[in-house]
Order: sequence, then C-alpha cells, then structure tokens
Amino acid sequence: MTGDQRKIFVTSALPYANGSIHIGHLLEAIQTDIWVRFQKIRGHDCLYLCADDAHGTPIMLSAEQEGVTPETLIARVHAEHQRDYAGFEIGFDNFYTTHSRENREFAETIYTRLNEKGYIKRRTIKQFYDPVKEMFLPDRFIRGECPFCRAQEQYGDSCEACNRTYAPTDLVNPVSSVSGATPIEKESEHYFFNLPEFESVLQDWIRAGRLQPEVANKLDEWFEAGLKEWDISRDTPYFGFEIPGAPGKYFYVWVDAPMGYFASLKNLLDREGLDVAAFIAADSAAEMYHFIGKDIMYFHTLFWPAVLHGSNHRMPTNVFVHGFLTVDGQKMSKSRGTFINARTYLDHLDPEYLRYYFAAKSGGGVDDIDLNLNDFQQRVNADLVGKVVNIASRCAGFINKRFAGQLGAVVHDEGLLEEFVAAGESIAASCEAREYAKAMRGIMALADRANQYIDRHKPWVIAKEDGRDDELQNICSTALNLFRILIIYLKPVLPGLAENSEAFLDIQPLSWDDLSAPLLNHRIKKFKPLLARVEKDKIDAVIEDSKENLLIN
Ligand code: MSP
Ligand code: ZN
Repeated sequence: MTGDQRKIFVTSALPYANGSIHIGHLLEAIQTDIWVRFQKIRGHDCLYLCADDAHGTPIMLSAEQEGVTPETLIARVHAEHQRDYAGFEIGFDNFYTTHSRENREFAETIYTRLNEKGYIKRRTIKQFYDPVKEMFLPDRFIRGECPFCRAQEQYGDSCEACNRTYAPTDLVNPVSSVSGATPIEKESEHYFFNLPEFESVLQDWIRAGRLQPEVANKLDEWFEAGLKEWDISRDTPYFGFEIPGAPGKYFYVWVDAPMGYFASLKNLLDREGLDVAAFIAADSAAEMYHFIGKDIMYFHTLFWPAVLHGSNHRMPTNVFVHGFLTVDGQKMSKSRGTFINARTYLDHLDPEYLRYYFAAKSGGGVDDIDLNLNDFQQRVNADLVGKVVNIASRCAGFINKRFAGQLGAVVHDEGLLEEFVAAGESIAASCEAREYAKAMRGIMALADRANQYIDRHKPWVIAKEDGRDDELQNICSTALNLFRILIIYLKPVLPGLAENSEAFLDIQPLSWDDLSAPLLNHRIKKFKPLLARVEKDKIDAVIEDSKENLLIN
C-alpha cells in the first residue's frame, strides 16, 4: 500500500550552542519531526539528524564571559538542548555537534577538494579590528551611528531604525562591543569560495522544480543581483577548525555548520556499521531534505549546494523553508513574556498541545505562523479533547462495564469505516506535502463524523433496552475502531496520545498498514483519560515565568 521503500535523510537547522531552545526553534523541529514520523509509519527508511552548531565568535565570547572553555560551554548546552527536544518528543536518530572528529574530517576533505579544483581564491581585505581585545570584529560586534539616518547604537551591518544596510566601516563613531574600544581598520588575507562559478549548476538544480515557489522567486532575485565570492576564513582567535595549510586561519562557522548534517549522519551510521557514502556520494539514490527558517535560505540554497557539487557530493533533494513564529501577532518578546523557552513551556504544559497547534497552523509555505494563545487553548480543547478523545470516552465505558472490555465480532457500519480508511490517501498526500493544516482539517472532519455516528445511534439509550446487547457492543466497537483510525493519522503529530491509546486498546504500536484490519474480538483495557484539557492558568504561568527569566538574567 505504501509503495516502494524510500531511503530518506532529513535535517532541522542546527541550533547555536550558546542559547536555549525556544518555541521558534520548536516550530521547525516539530514540523520536521512530524514529517519524519509520517515517513516512518508509512514504512520508509528515514533518518532524522541534527546537532548543535558549536563554532564561531559569539560562542567563543560567551564561554569567555562565563569563565569556561568553549568545550565546557558547548557540552553543557548540548545536554540541555537534547533534554529540551526530547521533552517535545522530537525523535532525532542522532543529535550531535559540529565540534566533532567527523565534522573536522568533512571540513578538511571538502575544503581540500574545492581547493584542488581551483574554487578557492585568496585576497587581502581590510576589516575592523579591536586593538584592545586584539581580534577582528564580526559586524554584529560593532555598534555606531547609522550613516544614513544617524540613529544611535546600530549594528555594523544594518540599521534597525531605517532598515538600510551598509559596511561596518561606514558607521559613524564605531565602537567595539567586546572591549568598548574604537576599532581600527586592519588588513588580513582571506580565503574565498568562488560561488559565481556555480551559477549554471545552481540554476539547473533550481529548475528541477522542486523548490517552494516563494523560495524559487527569492533565488531569482539573488541571481539578478549577481552571485558574489564567499569569504570562508576568519582570523585567530576563533573557535572552530583551522584551515589546512593556513595556520591562524579558521573556517567561518557557516562553512562547517551544514557539514554537521553529514557528521551527525556518519556518527550514527558508523555505530551501526553502515557506510555514509550511500547517502552523500554524488550518485546517491537516497533523498536528502533540509528543514530551515527563511533567514538562512542563502546558505542552504546557494552556498551549501555549490560546496556539495564542487566537492563531488550529492545536492539536496529539496530544502523546505518555513516562516517565523510570532506570538499573539507580534515578534517574540522578553518583556511581554512571549519569548518562551522550551523548558519554561514544559514546566506547565503538555508538549502535545503545541505539536498539535503548530500542525494545525502549518500550510507548507514560508508565511510566518502565529501562536495566538487564546486560539491555542480553544483549538486544542475543542479538537483533541472535545472531538478525538471524546469518541473513545463516550464508548469505552459500555465496553468496559457491559462486556468486560471485549470488542464485538462484527463492524456495525462497514461503509463508515471504509470511508475513514479511504480518507487516508488524501491525509497522506497532505502530510507528504507538509500541508499539515489541511491534514488536521481532514482528520477533524472525520472526528465530527464519528461523533455524529454516536449521536445518531445513542448507545446510552440502547444500553437501557433489553435484548440489544450485541447492537450496543458493535456500535461502541465500531466507534472505537473509528477512533483507532484517527489515532493512526494523528500519530506523527501526537506520539504521546498514540502511545496512551495503544495502551488503552492493548495493541502493538500502530502503523499505516494497520488501517485496513479493524480491531474485533479483542479485549481492551479500562479507559483512562488520554489527554487533559489546556487550562488558562497554565498558559498564564508560562508567560509569567518567561518574564521572570528576564529579571534573573
Ligand atoms: N546555526 C544556524 C543554522 C545552521 S544550519 C547548518 C542558525 N541557528 S539558530 O539557532 O539561529 O536557528 C536555528 C533554526 O531555527 C533556523 O532554521 C531558524 O530559522 C529557526 N528559528 C529561529 N528562531 C525562529 C523563530 N522565531 N521562528 C521560526 N523559526 C526560527 O541559524
Ligand atoms: Zn538608519
């Protein structure tokens, strides 16, 4: 039914190793996790890889401020990130780090190949340098007055007041945010990746027609503006990998970050005695997908595919881009308490609520997605508790009490059951296309049908009438079978509800193949509430605690 088995390799963008996982990261992780779980229950061979992005100046400076080595910092954050993702049931097959032996190997061999093929050029450039701290300054660590509108305290790359971009050396009265010193201009030799040479290769990759239309349009804009050489080196001091044959020069964090996808995969496969080449060689038959936010498209749709092609690796099958998360219509904000960390949410609320809500809001495009807190509470309660779980709670009691948990021998409404099974095709197509909102609407329409079926046959009335025991048993069993089908469809989104339901029905883990065979002549367990309602005071507590975080820090 599910066709030929596909070999698939999926990633979420690697979170930086100097901050906590927040609900924006979770939007991406949940969208990815749903897709991976969907592929898995459809019987495909699908691996989900991620890692911490551990290199770069901000991480080096954070560690210094804490008075620890970068290695100590990233080890601590790695453990926290792993715990937070696990709390949201993100089912990585491996969550690794870019600061690893495997990743160093990838960075070195890929660079060496690119260099041998003549794709790397060297050139001396002038950059801002902090004479006190004795380091070159990334744009984000320089502040000054905007050269256009004179707004104060603007970053070195763009002005938040007038939105114009400029070079850091254009800033008026620039100051280093590392030491407070006035930066000086200093020369240094940098290494550049010759991106423009890959224009036609990239055009072909894009023309293959897989990209979301919004992404393809953005790429067209970038091609029109012209591709530029990419500065891939940074001077010491830097936390990262040294460039082979270039003492004191390091790979810019964005060079080895996407390679971290491969390193995480190799680390997993090595443990299982499998070869990573089957996934990453130029002729690989495996599919490779990256889920990313719209802010990091340039890296994933231009640099990374070009680097892969230039170093004789396969290119991504597709890059799936999502928009940004807003809360109650606005950017997440620490002062409003809407910059919500994974941990703070988990202190008060069930992760499945957020998984369902994000699924219900994800249309598969790059539009921003809003977490409206009132809608969140109402939607989860109405759909999951009021519709889905309600089917089971309305019927389980009769089976438990009147039939010692035994389900009937025949389906009472074959047509309805067949309709539920048949709906699987379009629900699967929506999941495959990452149109989870559409899939959830389809599932909730079925849940309505199941409740109408119960309303129509009124088991609570039949239960009081003599001689209608078989009918009562078969009606309730049919409703529980409808519920079971909905749980199969919801399982990628709600693995916890699925597990509770499997325990209640006393069955093996459900997969898509279980759709066609109804559960008959089978003894179920006593019904226990499968999912609690979302309470408003818990949501309020999350917001309050998110404000508190600000005061403590
Ligand atoms: N380290 C880089 C990614 C390297 S991938 C080889 C990075 N890290 S990040 O922590 O800033 O972001 C990780 C992912 O989370 C990105 O895809 C980013 O778009 C996403 N999000 C971060 N904040 C977000 C929201 N508020 N909303 C939705 N997604 C957001 O970029
Ligand atoms: Zn300005």
